[in-house]
Amino acid sequence: MKVFVTGATGFVGRNFLEWLLRNQPDVSVTCLVRDVHKAQAQWPIAPQNVQWLAGDLLEPDSYRAALSGVNAVFHAAALVSLKNGPEFYRMNTEATRNLVAALGEGKDLQRLVFVSSISAVDRPMHEPAVDLLDEDFAPHPNTDYGKSKLLAEEVVSYSGLPYTILRPAYIYGPHPRLNSSMDRLIRDISAQTPYTRFPFPGQASGIHAQDLAAMMWLAAQHPQAENEAFFVSNPQPIPIVEAFAHIASALNVPYRPLERAPEHIRRAQHRWYHRQPDHLVLRILFENFFACNPAKWYRATGFQPTFDYSAGLNDTVRWYQAHGLL
Ligand SMILES: NC(=O)c1ccc[n+]([C@@H]2O[C@H](COP(=O)([O-])OP(=O)(O)OC[C@H]3O[C@@H](n4cnc5c(N)ncnc54)[C@H](OP(=O)(O)O)[C@@H]3O)[C@@H](O)[C@H]2O)c1
Repeated sequence: MKVFVTGATGFVGRNFLEWLLRNQPDVSVTCLVRDVHKAQAQWPIAPQNVQWLAGDLLEPDSYRAALSGVNAVFHAAALVSLKNGPEFYRMNTEATRNLVAALGEGKDLQRLVFVSSISAVDRPMHEPAVDLLDEDFAPHPNTDYGKSKLLAEEVVSYSGLPYTILRPAYIYGPHPRLNSSMDRLIRDISAQTPYTRFPFPGQASGIHAQDLAAMMWLAAQHPQAENEAFFVSNPQPIPIVEAFAHIASALNVPYRPLERAPEHIRRAQHRWYHRQPDHLVLRILFENFFACNPAKWYRATGFQPTFDYSAGLNDTVRWYQAHGLL
């Protein structure tokens, strides 16, 4: 089997490649990378069945020929951040359009797996975020990042190619993107920054990057996943304070959330929202803004994650410690 991977030098793609080499050692893998030296530095012992192809999604001539005879494409490259700007449309939508066009009719292609995001669906800013997002929600992305991912989803789903779209929320695990919100959270809890003691009432969904990698592979194989989009996370969202507690316990730092009456929490929320009404992070902390119901995925595939939240966050902290990052 021949597979083509984008984003292999990033957080998700690198975890996917590790999972693939461990679990599917017979596949032949081409990774499109912008910087071959970076890839080689990440893999000092070159895996036998991996070829680094120097190129850029924005320059389809750099990789078109390598798509010939490919059976599965795992597209994880992107510009990722909950922000705005024209570059998101270039790096996410145009890059995906180029990839789809370069695949042509994809004669040998069994599946194009596109790693999208919960942010492609999102929620209206001025409605309370109570229900868990699922595939029946009308998309309402709030950022250019989310809008560019939704447009990329449309490119994939109208491509005529067999596809699966996966929409993770939070992702944790080895090789994190430094300065991502998960990265900052781990550092803030490690430093016992005061806000981390506030008893935020929100819930969020997440998945360990190695479980996401297994989901990406399964998405490429499973007949029930063909031409479908799925939210992918652990089966249930986790209360934010519980996630903070798991991280603190893994870090071996004390964690004592402040005890506050619901009325006090509502007043604090109101005060903070009043200052920054469209602040995504506040909405994530106080509501179920980044929380989804991935039941469709579990029904379709029967997947069993390896890591629950406690084990996954613990593994993430261990990785930071082992790499001297805390
Ligand atoms: N991380 C999360 O928490 C999260 C949550 C939900 C969804 N996602 C989705 O997961 C996917 C992967 O995210 P990530 O966290 O792994 O991001 P990341 O760590 O920033 O990695 C992005 C990857 O894309 C590559 N890339 C960017 N532009 C490219 C281009 N024009 N041509 C070729 N390669 C290009 C980067 O290459 P360089 O190494 O050269 O920069 C890097 O390998 C994205 O689709 C994102 O939307 C992520």
